[in-house]
Amino acid sequence: MTLDNARIDIRTLKGDGDRRKAFALFRQALLGIGDLGRSSPETEARYLAGGKPLGGFEGDDLRGVVNGYDSSIVLPGGGRVKHLSVTHVGVAPDATRRGIARQLLTEQLRRARADGYVVAGLRASDARIYGRHGYGVASWSVQHELDLSRAALAVSPPREGLRIVDVRDSFPLFRQIAEADPAPRPATLSRWDSWRAIQEYRTIHGPTPHHAVVVGPEGNERGFLRFHVESADNWFTSPRRSVVIDDLVAHDNEAWQCLIGYLFRQDILHRAVFPSRPVDDPLPLLLHNPRTLEISGQRDESWVRPLNLEALLVARSYGGSRQIAIAVEDEVFPDNRGVWSLGPQGAERSNSKPEAHVAIAELTTLIFGAQSAANLHAAGRIKTASADVTEQLDRLFATSCRPHSGISF
Ligand SMILES: CC(C)(COP(=O)(O)OP(=O)(O)OC[C@H]1O[C@@H](n2cnc3c(N)ncnc32)[C@H](O)[C@@H]1OP(=O)(O)O)[C@@H](O)C(=O)NCCC(=O)NCCS
Repeated sequence: MTLDNARIDIRTLKGDGDRRKAFALFRQALLGIGDLGRSSPETEARYLAGGKPLGGFEGDDLRGVVNGYDSSIVLPGGGRVKHLSVTHVGVAPDATRRGIARQLLTEQLRRARADGYVVAGLRASDARIYGRHGYGVASWSVQHELDLSRAALAVSPPREGLRIVDVRDSFPLFRQIAEADPAPRPATLSRWDSWRAIQEYRTIHGPTPHHAVVVGPEGNERGFLRFHVESADNWFTSPRRSVVIDDLVAHDNEAWQCLIGYLFRQDILHRAVFPSRPVDDPLPLLLHNPRTLEISGQRDESWVRPLNLEALLVARSYGGSRQIAIAVEDEVFPDNRGVWSLGPQGAERSNSKPEAHVAIAELTTLIFGAQSAANLHAAGRIKTASADVTEQLDRLFATSCRPHSGISF
């Protein structure tokens, strides 16, 4: 239980020195990440440059930090809204459970909304931390482990058009391909420079070799696969030579099949691990024997917190055959509260009697299509006037594929 409420003074951290101190406090709180400033001061400077850190002070002592980076997020239907990528949430180990994180996270949300962000979003170190702040799960992910020594493809993707590239030199190309994706999944984020800085750093300084392949003619690439070798005591004789997929972007089905096909042509490999894939990834269907793919580790991926609910609701399109009035609860932003009418005619405030009651976190889950209304209702997380309304909600929020971002930060 939180013991008492600390009185903190929240300040924007602007200078390089203050940003480094904030990052050091976060590292101290998280325990498990190395000192980037010691190993590569230039990477740390680039990593921290684009952030919007806030510090919570008791007197002159920095006791807690939050940071955020500018990006955008894809909604079902292809619309995009401004997204503050929240990260580096940390409180000094001797100052926890006194409400410091709560005050910093709330102030960060208020400032982000004032700055025009439509949502804030993050990845959680623990799934129990952010629900109380109005963040809801906007996407789930699973891990795929493909047994290449037993698996075979059910189709024969062409070899032509695949090109091995120097992974260290190709980050500008990866960026171009990711940004040109014509139909990204809901929850896909636009990537920011400091995210790329860390990827490049890991690629260059990682303990094992990194590789990449692109698909499509030069200047018109339609996808890429970036991966690294999993460390093995003796790679040469190991019976379990594995690679870990770091990034996979494909603009269309053929590009995706070609990139997966590339892994199958590496006879040296026994196994490929995809740490984060969508829950409805079609990979099992691409295999002769789907049991050669082990799917495990389902976990919450994107946590999203609506800031300007009206802007979020109008940026998405809705299915179904009629408008439904939904009463929304929000403890932080009063103008997100109230009854909203959603349906084929769009989204607007309403005076109608609500047919469903949802908290802002569960509304986020519905908006992104991360769970069905039927499931949320079964778990007692939303209230609806009848089974018919629950079914109508599922038509309203229907998506053709499940949301997934594929990047961590
Ligand atoms: C998570 C963290 C920022 C919370 O800071 P804090 O100032 O103690 O937070 P608050 O006092 O505002 O709220 C504390 C509440 O969060 C809960 N909480 C904090 N960390 C938690 C965790 N890892 N798992 C479950 N609950 C957690 C506490 O149990 C407490 O709940 P209670 O009041 O119901 O008992 C802090 O514990 C921390 O720095 N942790 C290590 C770094 C980290 O994991 N950061 C998040 C990265 S996504």
